[in-house]
Amino acid sequence: MRLVALGPPGAGKGTQTVALARHFGIAHISTGDMLREQMRLRTRLGIEIEGLMNNGSLVSDDIVIDLVSKKLEELGDKGFIFDGFPRTLVQAKKLDEMLEKANHPLDRVLYITAADETIMERMAGRRICPHCQRVYHLVYNPPGSDGCGQCLDSLVQRDDDKPETVSQRLKIYHELTTPIIDYYRNDGRLLWVDGIGDITRITSQIVSKLEEV
Ligand code: AP5
Repeated sequence: MRLVALGPPGAGKGTQTVALARHFGIAHISTGDMLREQMRLRTRLGIEIEGLMNNGSLVSDDIVIDLVSKKLEELGDKGFIFDGFPRTLVQAKKLDEMLEKANHPLDRVLYITAADETIMERMAGRRICPHCQRVYHLVYNPPGSDGCGQCLDSLVQRDDDKPETVSQRLKIYHELTTPIIDYYRNDGRLLWVDGIGDITRITSQIVSKLEEV
């Protein structure tokens, strides 16, 4: 199975794609996690992109496409779900080109939605494990008293979750990412998912929709 999850920041792409990858036994590929890892390791790329990421701007198409194409080569025939990629029309078209070349077309594109006010509230309460990247919410998906349930590490807030940065990310999403919704809708690959409601119930709904098609 080859899937993509689109949607505004905080819609629940990370939460749902991790659960779906586990359910279907496919790889979870988050370009945001890949880029943050470069920053954490202080690589040349990490230092180059730090300012952009922290102020909520997109990293260039060339950089992201290069990371993704290496990842696809590593994966070979294994199925995957992309989280946060593609984010521009250039990226969407390039992904199709790479997958067609490998004879592994994309099966479905999940479009997870949530209103802007919900997103602001989710970002304010989001905490992540710096070790395994597991995502929590102080109210909706609370961690235990020991921090991360898996690593027992203390949780942290992402640098780009400050309210002013979230507003900037939403603005960029509306400008640059929404055009690709039509790109996928026009050829029937888009599957709309309401991102509001109980987390596990949303996962079950997505699984049922995917198993129907
Ligand atoms: P990235 O890490 O991809 O961030 P994003 O797309 O902005 O999305 P988020 O991770 O913020 O939210 P999410 O939808 O995954 O929600 P989550 O499940 O965590 O990208 C970060 C940056 O990297 C970008 O700004 C850009 O600079 C760069 N970048 C990445 N990819 C790029 C690309 N392709 N091209 C160029 N640049 C790129 O949930 C949010 C919170 O809500 C959590 O606390 C969660 O527990 C909670 N929650 C989830 N679902 C529910 C629910 N149903 N009910 C209640 N709470 C919920």
